[in-house]
Amino acid sequence: MKPWSVDVAEARFRCLEVAAERRTPSLAEDVERGFAARPRSLPPKYFYDAAGSALFEAICRTREYYPSRAEAGLLERYADAIVEAAAPAHILEFGSGSSRKTRYLLDACERRDRHVQYWPFDVCEAMLFEAGGGLIQRYPWLRVNALRGDYLAGLAHLPRFRGAVLYAFLGGTVGNFAPAASRAFIREIAKLMRPGDCLLLGADRVKAPELIEAAYNDAEGVTARFNLNLLNVLNRELGADFDTTGFEHRAFYNRTARQIEMYLLSRRDQKVRVPALNRNYPFARGEAMLTEISRKFDAEALEALVSEAGLRIRRHFEGGEQLFSLVLAER
Ligand code: AVJ
Repeated sequence: MKPWSVDVAEARFRCLEVAAERRTPSLAEDVERGFAARPRSLPPKYFYDAAGSALFEAICRTREYYPSRAEAGLLERYADAIVEAAAPAHILEFGSGSSRKTRYLLDACERRDRHVQYWPFDVCEAMLFEAGGGLIQRYPWLRVNALRGDYLAGLAHLPRFRGAVLYAFLGGTVGNFAPAASRAFIREIAKLMRPGDCLLLGADRVKAPELIEAAYNDAEGVTARFNLNLLNVLNRELGADFDTTGFEHRAFYNRTARQIEMYLLSRRDQKVRVPALNRNYPFARGEAMLTEISRKFDAEALEALVSEAGLRIRRHFEGGEQLFSLVLAER
């Protein structure tokens, strides 16, 4: 066989590892610190192993989980306006997951023959490959440069771009961080931005508590499985012996803090071994471990978050129902 006759696939997908700028705690360190606090807590980023990422996609398909449908509706309606305003050469998305909603932006790019490069940034490599593979099939002109890493570890090692970048931080994930941390992250993105670059930020809105609570307590129990999967992650990564049937999912809306608080509740007195830390942790019956906060914003708070980072708001898309917001800002 002649080597030059080999049909080399057009390499339109690649996956790059993003080096951390600052050292972030390991899972073991986060467990050690989080389990010493009361209530115990863990950062929500550990939800997203392959199983957890798939469960999150399933949450988005439940009847109750309105945020992803509301955001998709906004993107469908306003993608043309967003792409027109941002005129991007690159789209970089933090926490890209399945990249399903990004397709509205890519469709709008396609309609304008704007052949952007897409840079999905996610902790989950399996998700990046699956999503990227689907995208290059659907968009024959698209280059996907997947970025594998933890965006909270700093953005200093992102590539230098030629042309305008549209940074997207969708899904309302900004609400997973405490106020100071979310301000710090938006500021970090702002620092990265050059004149002409834009940020598209998606955030969930304050609304009737019953609606919010239902979204995190779906009848099928998908959110419960997503929450409990965190224990599988600890078992696999640290050799822990959590019995997932010994815990239950609890989520409620804290009206003062304007946030969903998601917990794992111990169903009984039990002891859990964590060999990686060489420790046993007792859990009392009814003891709650905080696994996620998901903050909800009113229009003013959201706009303040963006403005305080030194960005200028160009558009605020909220739709008629104001279930969800998309803010487009520039440097
Ligand atoms: C992807 C972080 C935005 O906070 O609503 C969904 C994650 N947790 N159901 C959210 C989640 C429980 C979700 N974010």
